[in-house]
Amino acid sequence: MPITTFSSFSDGLDPIRRSREHFITNTSLDDDRLWVPYADGVWLQPCCFNVTSGGFSVVLKGLPGRRVGTHYHVGTVHGYTMRGHWRYLEHDWIAKPGTYIYEPAGEAHTLVITEDSPEPMVTIFVVEGGLIYLDQAERGGFAAYEDGFTLLELCRNYYRQSNLDVRQLDRLVR
Ligand SMILES: [Fe+2]
Repeated sequence: MPITTFSSFSDGLDPIRRSREHFITNTSLDDDRLWVPYADGVWLQPCCFNVTSGGFSVVLKGLPGRRVGTHYHVGTVHGYTMRGHWRYLEHDWIAKPGTYIYEPAGEAHTLVITEDSPEPMVTIFVVEGGLIYLDQAERGGFAAYEDGFTLLELCRNYYRQSNLDVRQLDRLVR
């Protein structure tokens, strides 16, 4: 995405429709239509687009053996694993159902659902800022950027293509 894209990026909402109130949303892990394609064999259901901090919260699902490419976080990340087994190639632990992970700002990692995961991985991630995808794991350069704004656009495009109610996404913007 060219950097000029960000010079006027917004959440697309009229100020009068922008809410600061509390909200709840109900994900549906067994409804295939609601999974937004993210990477090969990896999908997400959005929970919150935090256009105040630039971050976002999602439930991520991935098939055994699939991955999310190497990326660098400018803010912290919290994760809680609900199903399946996964790891970062850069660490020696394996997350399983019940595992909570915390990542400090400034970490680059590559998320892999283990080949022997007994089921697709499902993990909720709370990401407190943008992240930068690298073009290679070692000494990688800038390949792509993601944050609450870009993810909102990605989800809106998918919802429109799939005839889902885009207004459901507006409710998740804070
Ligand atoms: Fe990450």
